[in-house]
Amino acid sequence: MPIHFIKTHQEENRLMSTSPEDAMPTIQPAAVPVAPSAPQPPVVTSVRSSAPTRAPIIHLGLDVGTMNLVCARANSLGKIEISSLRNVFLTVDDVNIEGMDLSKISHARIDEGVFILSHDAYNFANIFGHRLSRSMQKGMISPEDINSTDILAVMIRELLTIEPGAKPGKCVYSVPGDPINSKSNVLYHRNILGRIIDEIGFEPEPLNEATAIIYAECADSDFSGISISFGAGLTNVAVVYKSIPVMEFALGRGGDWIDDNVALAVGTIPNRVVAIKEKDFHLDRFDLGRKKERKVREALGFYYKNLIQFVVKSCLQELDRRDLDLGFPNRIPLIISGGTSLAGGFLDYIRAQVEESSWPLELSEVRYAGDPLSCVAQGCLIKSLKQ
Ligand SMILES: Nc1ncnc2c1ncn2[C@@H]1O[C@H](COP(=O)(O)OP(=O)(O)OP(=O)(O)O)[C@@H](O)[C@H]1O
Ligand SMILES: [Mg+2]
Repeated sequence: MPIHFIKTHQEENRLMSTSPEDAMPTIQPAAVPVAPSAPQPPVVTSVRSSAPTRAPIIHLGLDVGTMNLVCARANSLGKIEISSLRNVFLTVDDVNIEGMDLSKISHARIDEGVFILSHDAYNFANIFGHRLSRSMQKGMISPEDINSTDILAVMIRELLTIEPGAKPGKCVYSVPGDPINSKSNVLYHRNILGRIIDEIGFEPEPLNEATAIIYAECADSDFSGISISFGAGLTNVAVVYKSIPVMEFALGRGGDWIDDNVALAVGTIPNRVVAIKEKDFHLDRFDLGRKKERKVREALGFYYKNLIQFVVKSCLQELDRRDLDLGFPNRIPLIISGGTSLAGGFLDYIRAQVEESSWPLELSEVRYAGDPLSCVAQGCLIKSLKQ
């Protein structure tokens, strides 16, 4: 299976937050959670420094998302570096490539096929009005394209590149929880990813996506909290007490559900909706752009609010249904994360929904994760550095 991949977006695929400090948070030594089986205070661990003669061992955190693949690594100064790729592709048959110079485009040759990858695929799809293909669907490897696994492997290999002379160590990667009320292939997905990462040379270890958020965000509350990750394919939820997951589950709706419904409602393709949604969208403001854009924005507002109401209601039902004794001694934070939560007005709306309902646990606050697009990868990195 010959695979050829040319990276053209080294700068673009750096996931930069608004300030360089946000993009490169310092690893807090005390932020490393203890093993889930040992509920003690966190062990103080620092980034490993190797003897000059020995090759450094690189541990990584990898968030394998339906829309974004995000890698977190610690640099020599103990800062976290983030890189990312959009997890999308286009089959070259779909695109008019006459005269196109493929040497300037991120692509893979797999068996007989040529696939345009990631940011280039996203840009082409929007320019030419094509529907993007995805290697993942609803948080897991897509069964729709026979090449999904190979394409995903090419992109993961790209993200896990380490400098010559360094040795691959552990790679903790995110996996979704079992979606409630729908069938899933989490076990297949987890094992395929483990195999891909192992073939690259790293020691793979899976970690629930929402639990990873608690590892990244909740050092102050002793790694106790509730996290909701509003992703593209799924919404993942975890309740964690002193670094031990008490509940982990997923709901089968996320950004893709919003995009598909809006596209259907106003008669466009989902990636056109994505482009508008990711550009200055606010839940309550529809008066931007031309007529079609304003219609998209209005429909986005309806589906966003519906998603938030659905998630809050489902969380309460699930907490209730599992009938766990959640009498935590202290109030715990509710952490909101994931790309879908970045829409303007999202935090205010979900806060209001949470305040209106009665939760079986006492919440200290409802707040955003430090960087909603990279905190899963950061939590995975923190776990991988735990020695
Ligand atoms: N600024 C923004 N405003 C609104 N939505 C956004 C913004 N940025 C990204 N998104 C949306 O967030 C989603 C991607 O978020 P994220 O990277 O957290 O998902 P993922 O991890 O790839 O998916 P999943 O966890 O479901 O597998 C997409 O639907 C994307 O369109
Ligand atoms: Mg995600």
